[in-house]
Amino acid sequence: MIKGRTLGKGGPRVGALGYGAMVLEGYYGASDDDQAIKTIHRALETGMTMIDSADAYGNGHNESLVGRAVRGRRDAFVASKFGIVHEHDQTGTELPTGWGFSLKINGRPSYAKRALDASLSRLGVDALDLWYLHYPDPATPIEETVAAMATAVRAGKVRHLGLSNVTAEQVRRAHAVYPIAAVQYEYSLWRREAETSLLPTLRELGIALVAWSPLGAGFLTGTVTSLQPTDFRQNNPRFAGRGLATNTARYAPIMQMARELSLTPAQLALAWLLHQGEDIIPIPGTRQLVRIDENSQADAISLNAEQLRRIDTLARPGLAEGRPLV
Ligand SMILES: NC(=O)c1ccc[n+]([C@@H]2O[C@H](COP(=O)([O-])OP(=O)(O)OC[C@H]3O[C@@H](n4cnc5c(N)ncnc54)[C@H](OP(=O)(O)O)[C@@H]3O)[C@@H](O)[C@H]2O)c1
Repeated sequence: MIKGRTLGKGGPRVGALGYGAMVLEGYYGASDDDQAIKTIHRALETGMTMIDSADAYGNGHNESLVGRAVRGRRDAFVASKFGIVHEHDQTGTELPTGWGFSLKINGRPSYAKRALDASLSRLGVDALDLWYLHYPDPATPIEETVAAMATAVRAGKVRHLGLSNVTAEQVRRAHAVYPIAAVQYEYSLWRREAETSLLPTLRELGIALVAWSPLGAGFLTGTVTSLQPTDFRQNNPRFAGRGLATNTARYAPIMQMARELSLTPAQLALAWLLHQGEDIIPIPGTRQLVRIDENSQADAISLNAEQLRRIDTLARPGLAEGRPLV
């Protein structure tokens, strides 16, 4: 059973690894709902208690699916997000991603209220354990969005607040309005910018870092050798064109190190993240039961100082080729 970690200073206990449910929407290959529910149940059994969803994943389908999986289960800690507009009849601010497409973001208080009620209805719960702002709305001061989110806490519809894809400065402004329990940001052996100013700020404020795409959207498992034309990762310059071949060569030494330690590359990537601090909670996604077991074993791996130094050198910040998502 995976050990527990505290989600932010004085916050609730959750499994040191959570489960990222986005992968169940077909972005990285087809997924089957019945199998998906079994996979979520297996994640909960291993102690991956935090199940991560968002209203935009599968345009609401992911929350319905997670809702079916957690119904009647007291061991699940359900996290979801709002702010990426996924409905045709709603407006928002264009946010270029740097990957050739824009997201539409809405952080206005009226939208937040409406989005939360829709999420609760799809999930079939009275209250969300953790509710994130998926991306800050460039047209709405983050203070206004967080004040609206805090109203939902006071109304008993949300237990803890989170932010995602924010700067250190935005976290400070938001946290001054209402205590933030967790910030979600991409953090892994191929994306380490969080270490520069975000993570030190979170530590100062007592906020947990939930690491999204902790396996580099699959790259760090060493199993991605090609992608289907419809795979969402075709948008990602780290996979597209020559990106995958270039990065495979650059990360070959870290894959070799995993083999030397009799670990899978996925386990090494997750174990390294878990060693970065008790306040880091990675949320790997998989559609496969057997990989839940493989990934959960990362919690039991102990890396010594010399091994951590070697990983730090082999997967130094900036090693990956290709611009990451904003
Ligand atoms: N806040 C945000 O903006 C944001 C953005 C992206 C993601 N997220 C969250 O972060 C979660 C995880 O991110 P992610 O799904 O992008 O990437 P990830 O967890 O880094 O990687 C998922 C991929 O790795 C593969 N995989 C998992 N375990 C494996 C193993 N042991 N061996 C080989 N392959 C393995 C999966 O394939 P199989 O399914 O075939 O196993 C899947 O394609 C998401 O589900 C979502 O909840 C948040």
